[in-house]
Parts: sequence; structure tokens; C-alpha cells
Amino acid sequence: MQTILEPAAMQTWARERRARGETIAFVPTMGFLHEGHLSLMRMARDRADHLIVSIFVNPLQFAPGEDLATYPRDEAGDLAKCASVGADVVFFPTPASMYPDGFQTRVKPGPLAGPLCGRSRPTHFDGVVTVVLKLFNLVKPQVAVFGRKDFQQLQVIRRMVRDLDLDVEVLGGPIVREPDGVALSSRNAYLTGAERAQAVCLSQSLGLAEQRVASGEATAAQIIELVRAHVTAHPSAEVDYVELVDSEELTPVVGTLTGPCLLALAVRFGATRLIDNRVLVP
Ligand code: PAJ
Repeated sequence: MQTILEPAAMQTWARERRARGETIAFVPTMGFLHEGHLSLMRMARDRADHLIVSIFVNPLQFAPGEDLATYPRDEAGDLAKCASVGADVVFFPTPASMYPDGFQTRVKPGPLAGPLCGRSRPTHFDGVVTVVLKLFNLVKPQVAVFGRKDFQQLQVIRRMVRDLDLDVEVLGGPIVREPDGVALSSRNAYLTGAERAQAVCLSQSLGLAEQRVASGEATAAQIIELVRAHVTAHPSAEVDYVELVDSEELTPVVGTLTGPCLLALAVRFGATRLIDNRVLVP
């Protein structure tokens, strides 16, 4: 496995493979890798000749006051994990090489980036799609894999690919969870013992909502209230949002559920904000 630090070197590597007719699959990450990331890498690896993983804590997608400075890092551990799943290249650029002096262009997503996480993080998805487009141009993948853990991110990226005619197939991978149901996240490392114990309320509340939908007709308002009530019964949990939206357009579902829709939530435990989601099928 090779480590490439410079964007120009990454692009040359990719250009040479493409010129030989070889295929490239790509998994972008911010590092502090866990089984969720590794599951995407295994999915990607089986779909191309080469697997490239990027590790880059992208300053553009963090607002002032968010956790850019404290975002957890483990360079040696991450490289070992990438090697263990058979990555060919780990692309590890520095912020200065990705955003040199004079960098000023942004990709601006549309209304898909407005609700859910876009409401409390209004500049977040601009930063995400801008870096993802740059990474696609450097890594030149035919296939890129993203997790459904960040469902809105996946949809915003799919729409960028469609709107801007990017020649990349985007695949979504399932959410990987701890045995107690908590979705794996690099940010789980911030939780205290008591917060970690209560964090299980996110996936529990999604399960309660699923049961409620399975047991008969339910309205969006009833489902949202059920989830809120379960989460707020945990003293460390503070709801950022609980929303039920159309899973393609992310517009609010009102009244009785008639087709598949996305139940998404973000909950703060102290300074740590966790997200989770499930597609509900009535
Ligand atoms: P990061 O949070 O490191 O996540 C990298 C990828 O792993 C994303 O596609 C995310 O959805 C996926 N992922 C995280 N936890 C997961 C889990 N428990 N199960 C399945 N997949 C999971 O998302 C980002 O980085 C950044 O925004 C990035 C796309 C790299 C752009 O900077």
C-alpha cells in the first residue's frame, strides 16, 4: 500500500491507471477509521482494480466553533486499517495543499442541503461537496462509496454528480452499528461513559418508530412525537432535530405515511452532536 501526500502526485497516479484502462474505486473519509468506514472500503474494493482511500479532515466543512481542532486523529492506526482491507493507496493531503493561498471557489448545493443538518450547519454541505469534487478530480474514480449514516450527505453528493455530469457512480453503504445499536462514528470518541450509555436512545427511538409504523396507520406528527419523547427522557440528550422527510427530495412528510420516508435525527450530548436515521416503509 502506498501513501500519497501531494494532490498533484495523486492525480498523476490516477491518470496513469486510467490510461492503462484500469478502474479505480474511492472511499473518502476524515480518518479515525472504524468498521463503518472499513465496510465501505470492502464494498468499493470488489468493484474496481484499485481501491483509494482519502483521509482529510476538511476545514471547509466545519463552521467556526465546531470541532475542527479537536477532531480525533490516528494516522498510524488508520494506515494499518486501510492496509488490512487491501487499499492500494491512502491519499493523505494537508489543508495547505488542498487549499493553497488564493483558493476561493465553492460548489453550492441546492435545496437538498437546506433541511436536517443543513439547518444547524448552514455552510457544512458547501464544504462537503467542494472537497468531494476536488477529490474526485484528483482520484479520478469510476465508483465512489459513501455511508447511509450520513444520508443527507449521500443525497447531496448524488445530486451534484447528476447536476454537474460527473462521470462517477455513487454507491451508498448500510449503517454499521455497535452491538447495542449505536451507529459507529468517529465522534463517539468524545462521549463520556454516561453519555455513551444514553446515546443508545437514538437507534432505540428509530426502532420504536419502525414498530409503530408496522403496527398500523401512523401520521408523521405521531412518529416525530414518539421519537422526541423517547430521546428527551434521557437527561443528557438535547434534540437538535427529529424530522420525517421524503427520502429523495428531503421535503417534509405531512399526515399519514403512504410510502417509504426517511426518519432522521440529530441529538446533542454536551458538546457532541450525533446523527442517525432509518428509512421507514409503511
Ligand atoms: P467521515 O465522517 O469520516 O465518513 C466517511 C464515510 O464513512 C462517509 O460516507 C460516512 O457516511 C461513512 N460512515 C461513517 N460512519 C458510518 C457507519 N457507522 N456506517 C456506515 N458508514 C459510515 O463523511 C465524511 O467523513 C466527510 O464529510 C467526507 C465525505 C469525507 C468529505 O469530507
